[in-house]
Amino acid sequence: MALPDDFLYQLKNANSIEGVMSSYTSLKRTGHNYVCLCPFHSEKSPSCTVYTDTQSFYCFGCGAGGDVITFVMKSENLDYFEAVKYLAERGNIPLPDEQFDENSSRIKQRVYEINRLAARFFFSQLKAQRDNNGLAYLLNRGLSLQTIEKYGLGYADDKWNNLKNYLMSEGYTENELIVAGLCIKSKSGNLYDVFRNRVIFPILDLRGNVIAFGGRLLDGEGPKYLNSSDTPVFKKSRNLFSLNFAKSSNEKRLILAEGYMDVIAINQAGFSNTVATLGTALTPEQARLMSQYAEEIIIAYDSDDAGQKATYKAIALLSDAGLKTRVLTIDNAKDPDEFIKKFGATRFKLLLDNSEGAIVYELNKCKNGLDMESDTGKVEYLKRVTHILADIKSSVEREVYISRVANEQGVSKETLLYEVNALVKKQRNMNEKREWRNITNQITAKRDNINPEAAKYPKEAKAETGIIAFLLNNPDKLEFVKSRLQAEDFVTAFNKRVFISIVDKIGGSKDISISSFNDDFTPDEMGKISEISAKTREINITQETVSDYIDVLLSHIDNTANGNDMSDEDFLNFFNSLKQKLN
Ligand code: GTP
Ligand code: MN
Repeated sequence: MALPDDFLYQLKNANSIEGVMSSYTSLKRTGHNYVCLCPFHSEKSPSCTVYTDTQSFYCFGCGAGGDVITFVMKSENLDYFEAVKYLAERGNIPLPDEQFDENSSRIKQRVYEINRLAARFFFSQLKAQRDNNGLAYLLNRGLSLQTIEKYGLGYADDKWNNLKNYLMSEGYTENELIVAGLCIKSKSGNLYDVFRNRVIFPILDLRGNVIAFGGRLLDGEGPKYLNSSDTPVFKKSRNLFSLNFAKSSNEKRLILAEGYMDVIAINQAGFSNTVATLGTALTPEQARLMSQYAEEIIIAYDSDDAGQKATYKAIALLSDAGLKTRVLTIDNAKDPDEFIKKFGATRFKLLLDNSEGAIVYELNKCKNGLDMESDTGKVEYLKRVTHILADIKSSVEREVYISRVANEQGVSKETLLYEVNALVKKQRNMNEKREWRNITNQITAKRDNINPEAAKYPKEAKAETGIIAFLLNNPDKLEFVKSRLQAEDFVTAFNKRVFISIVDKIGGSKDISISSFNDDFTPDEMGKISEISAKTREINITQETVSDYIDVLLSHIDNTANGNDMSDEDFLNFFNSLKQKLN
């Protein structure tokens, strides 16, 4: 469904791309435009440009690009209509009509409904207690009834079709249950429940929708925890368990735990500002999500090796997102859940209060396994510590810790400073090289994805790109191009589509801008179109050059027509006519 032009115009007026993007990443002005660290891939120096005149963005690093709608689609994981709705709300623009709501993401709506019903179903199963040890299990793990209700925990029986039968009786189709990630089809074609013989942890978004489930096995075979796969309403890497409660705790600090049970136990102990990832390692997106609600994160991972390794990674990701980090050290228990069960909430609060800053934590860890009384131990410690110190981003902070270590170990501050600075320089060089490699890899990968034929016909693709760029900058020259060139003359399918869209847009006397393509192209394809626009901004393509480009495309047609690329049908016709002539 196309949206009215005047509505889109208002929408974009009320949501400038620089305004919207600045709440995701910090923009730095360069002349009329801005540059920023790309929100869609991890980088240390900015390669994303925001063009105020065309109200578009393009990342020279990863190829992401488009207008403000594409940006919102990509960063909030929304479809086109949802992104429009989101911006309409942000800009206080009334939506064009009711039909809009109806059309927008009907599937998502169905999945939300299915999830809500499923959560209720699991909850009622837990309460029913028929041949069910789910409730006993949760109570035995120290959860109160109140906590169980707060989280809406549930139970899935050890049966294959309980949930499926219930949801189908409520009028949902097999396909919808599969899309919602609650059922799967066996090889023989039978649909069955994903969650069986498990206690269920519903996962809610910030608006209170049930978006997914986690399930812990009670006994028997199978993975200990099972999490919903990604669905139209759920992306593991972008959500956090219990953020709905943590958000309203109004604390500037969040506690980050490893598992569902830890979060719930910490919550029950009185700290609702706690979240966990959903069965995966922390992602940069989750770190950014946390930075919207907190300034400081206390990492409360398991005390085992895996937990400690994950702690290091989390520290790096969180500080990349601009968050301060502290680390909780749990002694005599494997995780927060067990600690609270053994020692109680008051002792846990002491742990929180005594948690160390991430750097002190890392410096101390360097002493592990070393005899700090011996010279070799000290030397090894200083070697390890140099790496930690070199990783500290703020130079002031770096100095403070360098002094601290130098004093503690009785070495001169200058020597340590020298070593650390040398390492900083070396790493910076390595990072730059790596980043450059990433950029080139990503560009090639991108190109192949969106327009795979470009690799086969590089000359033609270049000509096509040139023509498209020319038209983007000179929409008034469309008649000139059309007088010599038709869509059929385009060689690569993607560029052909872009050309058809341009003809359509300009032909309908609409203005041509990056936004014009939004309803016909996916966000990834928008990136490609933005690339064409961004990379040719400073180049003045003349009419003569375009004529040459057109010749390239026309001569390509000639080649295939005269060449031996004849289709079977053509060949048969040719052969038959030849036979007739000979007879
Ligand atoms: P309990 O044993 O119930 O106390 O769970 P836990 O949270 O202590 O478990 P653990 O430390 O083993 O795991 C932490 C988190 O990792 C869990 O909450 C899950 O999100 C995830 N996880 C654990 N086991 C699995 C698994 O087998 N598959 C998947 N996908 N995730 C798992
Ligand atoms: Mn545990």
